[in-house]
Amino acid sequence: MKDLFSKIYRDKGPLGKWADQAEGYFVFPKLEGQISNRMKFQGREVITWSINDYLGLANHPEVRKADEEAVKKWGSAYPMGARMMSGHTELHEQLQNELADFVSKEAAYVLNFGYQGILSTIDALVGKNDVIVYDVDAHACIIDGVRLHLGKRFTYKHNDLDSIELNLARAEKIAEQTGGGVLFISEGVFGMRGEQGKLKEIVELKKKYNFRLLVDDAHGFGTLGKTGAGAGEEQGVQDQIDVYFATFAKSMASTGAFIAADKEIIDYLKYNLRSQMFAKSLQMSLVEGALKRLELLRRSTEFKDKLWDNVNALQNGLKENGFDIGTTTSCVTPVYLKGSIPEAMALVKDLRENHGIFCSIVVYPVIPKGLILLRMIPTATHTMEDIDLTLKAFSAIRERLENGTYKKLSQSLMENMGE
Ligand SMILES: Cc1ncc(COP(=O)(O)O)c(C=O)c1O
Repeated sequence: MKDLFSKIYRDKGPLGKWADQAEGYFVFPKLEGQISNRMKFQGREVITWSINDYLGLANHPEVRKADEEAVKKWGSAYPMGARMMSGHTELHEQLQNELADFVSKEAAYVLNFGYQGILSTIDALVGKNDVIVYDVDAHACIIDGVRLHLGKRFTYKHNDLDSIELNLARAEKIAEQTGGGVLFISEGVFGMRGEQGKLKEIVELKKKYNFRLLVDDAHGFGTLGKTGAGAGEEQGVQDQIDVYFATFAKSMASTGAFIAADKEIIDYLKYNLRSQMFAKSLQMSLVEGALKRLELLRRSTEFKDKLWDNVNALQNGLKENGFDIGTTTSCVTPVYLKGSIPEAMALVKDLRENHGIFCSIVVYPVIPKGLILLRMIPTATHTMEDIDLTLKAFSAIRERLENGTYKKLSQSLMENMGE
């Protein structure tokens, strides 16, 4: 019999195998300083394009004051226990009511983390006779939620209406045989490529197929729609989303998440979400902090408006300079370039060290081989100067990529990696 750990000693996994070359730089980098458009990386100032603080609330004076006062008042422990046992408070309830009102749903339930929360939501909504239909590009939390499912599941081609319909028809056929129902899962905004889920078209299909719709709107909440209520509001179909999910980890610049739906559904979920029944409730400082952030979101759209000024300037600037930003319809700004992984590493080093630009880099196996995706998250705190400098830097690195500079620079890297 093998030692359980033998595979770990042999193979650190698809990303872990790059650890020696990548750790501390491409993965697990340490950004220092206050969360903002400019932070420090390895001692030098960089323009940060990978902080999910869309609305710039992380360091808003009212938010900082509310956070600090809440920690002073409650410490970090309160409340102890899971919601069902000893972790429920008036303030949790107030936050839920205000969130429900903001996203136009009857009720909401606050979750300690988004990832676990949505995973449990999927788990609680389906039984073994039910069928799940979800996008092939779904976030890991959805994939892992689906993994818990004991019944059938179908993926459809990313945002592809023919594939959606084909799989809905398949799912319905099976559900008819098993006596179950169909759960359809989409994201409000797909976080890698920035496309909104085709919610309008999906809800139209409710006329033809019998399914319930769960939307993970992590990137849409606060950034899309007239009031910032997300992708459902933007597409005019919020009332047709059966279960709406968003995290506090992005626009709300915090930790925690929530789901919102009809009261009867939330009442069911609060008794059946295992990640909430058997894990500690969201701490008070985060609850009070979320109330303050929500108050700011509701007070005016100034943060969202500023964000979109920056998104438009960045995305238009990239397009005018001939960059391929794919088909984003949100703030998430991808830039697609062609090159190998070692070339991508040399390019990112140049971008960070010579141009002071810090953005996330995505390569195979997350995207197809030969593509490099530089992913940028504009925020309300970025300036036009940040955008100008970034556009200039991108033009410079594209030239070096195309004239083979990075290929040469990456040769030694490739030898190290045994490519
Ligand atoms: C689409 C999506 N869903 C869910 C989550 C998980 O949220 P949390 O960070 O609150 O666990 C994330 C990441 O934050 C996300 O991008």
